[in-house]
Amino acid sequence: MEKNLIEALQWRYAVKQFDPTKKISPEDLQFILSAGNLMPTSYGLQPFRLVVVENPELKEKLVEHSYGQRHVADNTYLIVMAVRTDINEEMVAEFTHRIEQIRQLPAGAVDGYKKVMVGDLTNRTPEARRIWAQKQAYLALGGMIAAASEKGIDNHCLEGFNPDRYDEILGLSERNLHATVIMAIGQRSEADESQHQKKVRVSEDQMIIRL
Ligand SMILES: Cc1cc2nc3c(=O)[nH]c(=O)nc-3n(C[C@H](O)[C@H](O)[C@H](O)COP(=O)(O)O)c2cc1C
Repeated sequence: MEKNLIEALQWRYAVKQFDPTKKISPEDLQFILSAGNLMPTSYGLQPFRLVVVENPELKEKLVEHSYGQRHVADNTYLIVMAVRTDINEEMVAEFTHRIEQIRQLPAGAVDGYKKVMVGDLTNRTPEARRIWAQKQAYLALGGMIAAASEKGIDNHCLEGFNPDRYDEILGLSERNLHATVIMAIGQRSEADESQHQKKVRVSEDQMIIRL
């Protein structure tokens, strides 16, 4: 059932127990992934990838590296948002080449922009580059939460997991990726008590500071 965004955000909650008999369709998954890909990022560089884990054995292996949280396995799809670890001149060149191709520009047309990006990013420490990439991934995550919730698709985000073990199990390091945050999607179980709990948020008067 489609909802307006505010209704959808009231309806959604961090699902603790998915109903394993109710599956999310591949089309609905695609909708969420498309939202993630369309979200804006700093410079437009999209320094992350959306890794979709459907394989039940693989998901099962992840549970013990996620503080035993069962919803890591008991979902229809687990989306692992992984940041690129190769944030370098080549990655920027890959991006500017894509701009030239898509916008049918002559080679070198965006070299000025490339120089700015390379100068900025390569001046940062590897740790600072990772933090920058993670911010972009979280922004996309926000869009994906909104997209899923508007479509009435239950979701739960987690950062309570061991990223290094995820990298190993999912073969992310070989792809120059590092697991950052995950989103499990599925359908809430009727037995999940959390759905009846009231939302806890600061009041809008506290949240919004008008100057
Ligand atoms: C980025 C992120 C990471 C989270 N990590 C976990 C987690 O590891 N385990 C967990 O049980 N809940 C996790 N949560 C769920 C939050 O605790 C939950 O969203 C918050 O308490 C608000 O409740 P609500 O989503 O039900 O409105 C996470 C949420 C977000 C957005």
